[in-house]
Amino acid sequence: MKRGISICLSLAFFMLSCGQGQNENKTATTTAGTEQGPVNSNGKQLFINNCQRCHELNQDKMGPKLAGVLSRWNNDTTQIIAFIKDPQQVISGGKNSYATQLYSTWNGAQMPSFSNLNEADIKDIISYINKGVE
Ligand code: HEC
Repeated sequence: MKRGISICLSLAFFMLSCGQGQNENKTATTTAGTEQGPVNSNGKQLFINNCQRCHELNQDKMGPKLAGVLSRWNNDTTQIIAFIKDPQQVISGGKNSYATQLYSTWNGAQMPSFSNLNEADIKDIISYINKGVE
């Protein structure tokens, strides 16, 4: 009986220390955001998976650098979301002069549409890229 309890206790302790380990990892990645607040880790992962082949945060690549994106769109998150979901539609709609101009600056290079991403995910990406912290 006594033995059973101590096995239980050590199991519980083991699980506790595992849990702590994970928390520590989390803080390690989030503090990378330094004074600008925690990095949005879902946004970061989605960015790596979907966007990084064409975009960097702080320098131009196949597409423009993305840090500070909100101010370039006058903080219009709705438009940025619409653009990421379907860039060609926003560009060819012609109602967003910034998007039209961007398209000609990039010489007609086409960003693919990401209609598979939902709004919450795109918001996470935006909050990650806007900070411009790797
Ligand atoms: C195949 C290359 C490619 C991929 C992949 C890509 N983009 Fe783009 N992106 C571009 C190009 C090129 C532009 C410039 C506008 C244009 O020509 O359509 C652009 C423009 C943008 C802009 C406007 C930039 C600004 O400074 O205002 C945002 C925001 C953006 N992309 C976000 C994303 C996000 C988020 C992803 C991933 C979900 C992504 N892009 C994936 C090529 C790409």
